[in-house]
Amino acid sequence: MAVEFNKRIALTGFMGVGKSSVARHLAHSLRCERTDLDNVIEEAENRSIADIINTDGEARYREIETSNLESVIADKTVRILSLGGGTWTVEENREMLKKSGFISVWLESSFEHCWMNIKFSHKVRPLAKNKRNARKLFEERQKIYCLADWHFIVKPEFTSFDVASRILEELIS
Ligand code: S3P
Repeated sequence: MAVEFNKRIALTGFMGVGKSSVARHLAHSLRCERTDLDNVIEEAENRSIADIINTDGEARYREIETSNLESVIADKTVRILSLGGGTWTVEENREMLKKSGFISVWLESSFEHCWMNIKFSHKVRPLAKNKRNARKLFEERQKIYCLADWHFIVKPEFTSFDVASRILEELIS
C-alpha cells in the first residue's frame, strides 16, 4: 500500500540492526528510492568500506563518510537514507542531517541481536571483528544514538517489513 508522507527519514543504529532492509521497505511503501550511505561511499571510492578502513584508517574513513553524506543530503530527491552505524556518532553529520530536514530514527535492539546478524552476514565489518570490541562500541554509542528524533525498538521477532510499517504508523499518526 502506498503511503502519503513526504518528509525525509534517516535511519541510524548499530551494525546488524537492519537499517538497510528497513529502508528498502520504507521506500517501497512510500514509492520512492532509498539511498544507502555505505553503498554511495563504495561507489564513489570504487573500493569496499573494509578496504578504506583497513588501508586508510577509521579517521580517514569518517572524513570520506562526512563528505559523501554532504553530497547525498544536498540531493533533495533523497528521502529515505540508511546511514552507516557510525555516521550518527559524528556531530557534524548529525547537524547536517538536522539542517536538511531529516527525521532521524534510531533502530534500537539488543547487542546480542545485532551480533547474531553481524555474525551471519556476508558484509565485512572491520569495526566489529570480535564480539568484545563490538560490544564495547555498542555500549559507548547508546548515548549518542538516543539523540535521534525518534526511537524504535526492534525485537528479534520483527521482520524488517514489520519495523518499516510500524515506523510509518508512528510517524504518520
Ligand atoms: C560502521 C558501520 C558500517 C560501515 C562501517 C562502519 C560503524 O555500516 O559504515 O563499517 O562504525 O558502525 P553498517 O552499520 O551498515 O554495518
